[in-house]
Amino acid sequence: MGEIVALKEISLFRGHQTILDNISWTIKKGEHWAVVGANGAGKTSLLRIVAGYLWPSKGEVMVLGRRYGKSDLRELRRHIGWISQELLAEIPPTQRVINAVISGKYASFGLWVEPEKEDYKRAILLLERLDILQLAQRPFSTLSQGEKQRTLLARALMAKPDLLVLDEPLSGLDLTTREQFLFDLERIAPSATVILVTHHIEEITPLFTHVLLLKEGRVLAQGGKEEVLTNNLLSQTFDLNIYVQRRFGRFWITINHSTKSSQW
Ligand SMILES: Nc1ncnc2c1ncn2[C@@H]1O[C@H](COP(=O)(O)OP(=O)(O)O)[C@@H](O)[C@H]1O
Ligand SMILES: [Mg+2]
Repeated sequence: MGEIVALKEISLFRGHQTILDNISWTIKKGEHWAVVGANGAGKTSLLRIVAGYLWPSKGEVMVLGRRYGKSDLRELRRHIGWISQELLAEIPPTQRVINAVISGKYASFGLWVEPEKEDYKRAILLLERLDILQLAQRPFSTLSQGEKQRTLLARALMAKPDLLVLDEPLSGLDLTTREQFLFDLERIAPSATVILVTHHIEEITPLFTHVLLLKEGRVLAQGGKEEVLTNNLLSQTFDLNIYVQRRFGRFWITINHSTKSSQW
């Protein structure tokens, strides 16, 4: 299976609004993608389509060799690890961390089946690798934000996903926790294809090979990260004067306000 994701001319309409406009996007095995765009650009909508939680109004979707409309999406979702801010609200507050992690195997919220012994083993292994084993019996609602994010990562990895979709998993984390998370990702999911949604360019670590820039529901650019993360394209994406520098294998931006008036 060469293609992990193949979107062909997909559009998403809600009432009179066009949320996604004629997007074609192919992700091949071995590639890892960052999706970058301002608030409201359509990133979450695009990734919900990829993860099998939302149907496009038009176009064809193929993910992990399964074509939408021909396959059972619930079965597909079990092969996809998914982290988003919305997910935080879906985990039952009193659920213990270990069970929240195990529920990832069934792509369900709450745990409706008696877990197998192997499930406990894997959940414990993941908690151990993410350095939060000591939290296993704590109710989810009592965790700090960083601990919650790590729990969600363990949950997303529970089913040994072929595709890991991370929708702004780092928002609200402090620098140390963010760096640890990015580092964990490379170490813990070496065989999964990763899609990271972010508006922070510095989160695009050397793991990522490609970038898709989204603006107002359209693809502004897509391709190898060196070709896409340019002053010109990033400035267009955010309507700001952006200057990009590459250091230590990552990209850092400086914003020049002196040549463009602020919108406020
Ligand atoms: N269910 C919906 N009904 C109407 N509009 C929606 C719906 N979901 C998203 N939108 C709109 O679509 C646009 C893109 O949203 P979203 O995909 O969440 O963007 P992003 O994740 O890039 O911030 C926004 O203008 C948002 O208000
Ligand atoms: Mg979003």
